[in-house]
Amino acid sequence: MKIAMIGTGYVGLVSGVCFSDFGHDVVCVDKDPAKIEKLERGEVPIFEPGLEDLMARNVAAGRLSFTLDLAEALEGADTVFIAVGTPTRRGDGHADLTYVMAAAEESARTAKKYVVIVTKSTVPVGTNRKVHDVVAKANPDLEFDVASNPEFLREGAAIDDFMRPDRVVVGVQSDRAAKVMADVYRPLFLRDFPIVTTDLESAEMIKYAANAFLATKITFINEIAALCEKTGGDVKEVSRGMGLDGRIGNKFLHAGPGYGGSCFPKDTSALARIGQEYASPMLITEAVIKVNEDIKRRMIEKLRDLCDGNFNGKTVAILGVTFKPNTDDMRDAPSLTIVPALVGSGANVRVVDPQGRQEGEALLPSVTWVEDPYEAAKDADLIVVLTEWNEFRALDLGRISSEMRTAHMADLRNIYASADALSSGFERYDSIGR
Ligand SMILES: NC(=O)c1ccc[n+]([C@@H]2O[C@H](COP(=O)([O-])OP(=O)(O)OC[C@H]3O[C@@H](n4cnc5c(N)ncnc54)[C@H](O)[C@@H]3O)[C@@H](O)[C@H]2O)c1
Repeated sequence: MKIAMIGTGYVGLVSGVCFSDFGHDVVCVDKDPAKIEKLERGEVPIFEPGLEDLMARNVAAGRLSFTLDLAEALEGADTVFIAVGTPTRRGDGHADLTYVMAAAEESARTAKKYVVIVTKSTVPVGTNRKVHDVVAKANPDLEFDVASNPEFLREGAAIDDFMRPDRVVVGVQSDRAAKVMADVYRPLFLRDFPIVTTDLESAEMIKYAANAFLATKITFINEIAALCEKTGGDVKEVSRGMGLDGRIGNKFLHAGPGYGGSCFPKDTSALARIGQEYASPMLITEAVIKVNEDIKRRMIEKLRDLCDGNFNGKTVAILGVTFKPNTDDMRDAPSLTIVPALVGSGANVRVVDPQGRQEGEALLPSVTWVEDPYEAAKDADLIVVLTEWNEFRALDLGRISSEMRTAHMADLRNIYASADALSSGFERYDSIGR
């Protein structure tokens, strides 16, 4: 198969690299010259474990290349995948489809022969039909089909998720498109990974429903954690006791400072808006969005309490600012709510993150970036575990507490035990739901 991949972000680049590893010929195209220059030099513009090696292997094998020129990418392509961003539209919470529609229209004008135009971006129900109309209008002579192929990979584990997916979802309107999509995913089909082939609307809905459900699960346990703090009980034990129930499962059941990231906030918001638009309110999703915002505010109060009620003049060390470990992605990270609140209330904030600095510097002005947690903790009044990078899981707590001005810790990912922290010299230790 010959595949054109539009967009070389977290999804487009990983998908393009993995498709080439399946043996397909892939040309990735992006509008951002800086990204394409980097990729042509063999550098990966994002942090994603394993991606650089896999990319290099497939470039060397002659199956993978990068270009700014859509026409070059589309030359002879059997499919064109649209993997551009669908951020929240300013003002109304809807998904912004500008980039998807622009990519569809450009593809229509460029394509010369039958092609399947596949939307990999997360898009509201009905979008693929709109893509169909846009393409038909832009190039009435073009023979084409549209297909919906939402992506479920997780940043930080993206290659494994793509290569060994729980399922692949493909929404199609014609047998011809179904056949092309089956050829694209044949290597996974042959290894018995489930391929769910459905209509366009179901495929689009599956993605939003899955993300909203996962956001709900996280938010549910976060709310239980808040209740545990009042009633007594340890949310870690509660999660374990719940998660061992096969009907519930233990994934996405870890209490924390609220979900963030490039998908859950915008996708829950978009689903809520779709519900309102169709007068079929998504009340659970709306509650999840609200509760998640409240949780982030509750975290700030927890930190204030550990600073004896006042951030002014206090030095706070923040461990981790990316929305989760193993990514450099800062989009909608809880740190973007929590850190500015500390800075705004007069705290001196030091930040350490293994990969977040490049993105984070512009987003978190007025903080001091340091290289390691011990440097961050020196003479600090509070240390906060905000993102559970492996680098932060086995710190020498005795060394940290002895170097702090006031040895207080907020463990917002529950990676330490209270008894260990207190016996290592911390005067106060607080975590989530324990
Ligand atoms: N990031 C994730 O973990 C993830 C997971 C599943 C699904 N998704 C969905 O996948 C989509 C892409 O997400 P992402 O995180 O990869 O976005 P991203 O912002 O990292 O990448 C998008 C890329 O598309 C490029 N682009 C935009 N318009 C273009 C055009 N007309 N031609 C060529 N390039 C263009 C941009 O320059 C950018 O490099 C979104 O809809 C998102 O919801 C993301």
